[in-house]
Amino acid sequence: MSLVEIKNLKVHYPIRSGFFNRITDSVNAVDGISFNIEAGETYGLVGESGSGKSTTGKSVVGLEKVTSGSIMYKGKDITKKANRKSLDYNHDVQMIFQDSLSSLNPRKRIEDIIAEPLRNFEHLDKDSEKLRVLQLLDIVGLDADALYKYPHQFSGGQRQRIGVARAVATNPKLIIADEPVSALDLSVQAQVLNFMKKIQREFNISYLFISHDLGVVRHMCNNIAIMNNGRLVEIGTRDDIYNHPMHIYTKRLLAAIPETNVSQRAEHRAQRLAVEEVYREQQDKYYDKDGLAYPLVQITPTHSVALPEALAEQLKHEGEVQA
Ligand SMILES: Nc1ncnc2c1ncn2[C@@H]1O[C@H](COP(=O)(O)OP(=O)(O)OP(=O)(O)O)[C@@H](O)[C@H]1O
Ligand SMILES: [Mg+2]
Repeated sequence: MSLVEIKNLKVHYPIRSGFFNRITDSVNAVDGISFNIEAGETYGLVGESGSGKSTTGKSVVGLEKVTSGSIMYKGKDITKKANRKSLDYNHDVQMIFQDSLSSLNPRKRIEDIIAEPLRNFEHLDKDSEKLRVLQLLDIVGLDADALYKYPHQFSGGQRQRIGVARAVATNPKLIIADEPVSALDLSVQAQVLNFMKKIQREFNISYLFISHDLGVVRHMCNNIAIMNNGRLVEIGTRDDIYNHPMHIYTKRLLAAIPETNVSQRAEHRAQRLAVEEVYREQQDKYYDKDGLAYPLVQITPTHSVALPEALAEQLKHEGEVQA
């Protein structure tokens, strides 16, 4: 049994319009996705803006109402509130939010921000609480004088670390990390990612690591799901996704990873344009008549891709010939 098993999850937002404010349509932000997260692993969820990543993350922590499907945690469906209670779910599962400035209360001092989950769940005495907050600041590499400051007095990178400290305060089993480093400079990104890895090893945390950037995910995740317009187009190990991508959308995301080696930039640009060209020409083959991704077809025990059976067979065969 995996730590988390997401089955056919759907989150549809109603669109209301007209004089009577009736529901006339819906945004299918998450449209039937399934994947599993193992204990202690970092699972990558990757896709462009608007593909439904944050909505997925929020439904896993219980902040978003699920339209249908199930989210099993330790074998129990936590879309049901009674199960969340009995499992201590809100204690075990925390979230690092995409936007650190708006997710930290501007009128609260850092001490109170980080202590909040402790006050909700652990009820420590004043001294033990302070000690724990100081330990947490130390874990994320901030000085003790941060205690009495407010969020706006920190840089983006420091604020993101405060978000990490708050998320790990209760020793959670699972952290939903929604674009935890996207707003940061490259150098600071590496620092925060290293913190996250370090505390993962120390506390055996699982992450659902949400990102639009396959470059960052490569360093963090062993298993990856590629999300496109509410659906998953490809699931696989790091090797499957980076070395044997099959869906045209995955290939396009891979081509969009910035090339850091200056001498190879021209070649990389040419490659990216070629992938874009193929994407424009062959798009119809990869999506159904409504422009949506097909159901996933299993290619190997670890690798699945959203393609019509015939095309999957053909690409699989071409892959075997190349290999
Ligand atoms: N409360 C809401 N009501 C209606 N539509 C919503 C709501 N929240 C999100 N959406 C829509 O659902 C879709 C998915 O949004 P979501 O925030 O999950 O995307 P995302 O992959 O996290 O994007 P980004 O990379 O920009 O953060 C978008 O089309 C968005 O406009
Ligand atoms: Mg998002």
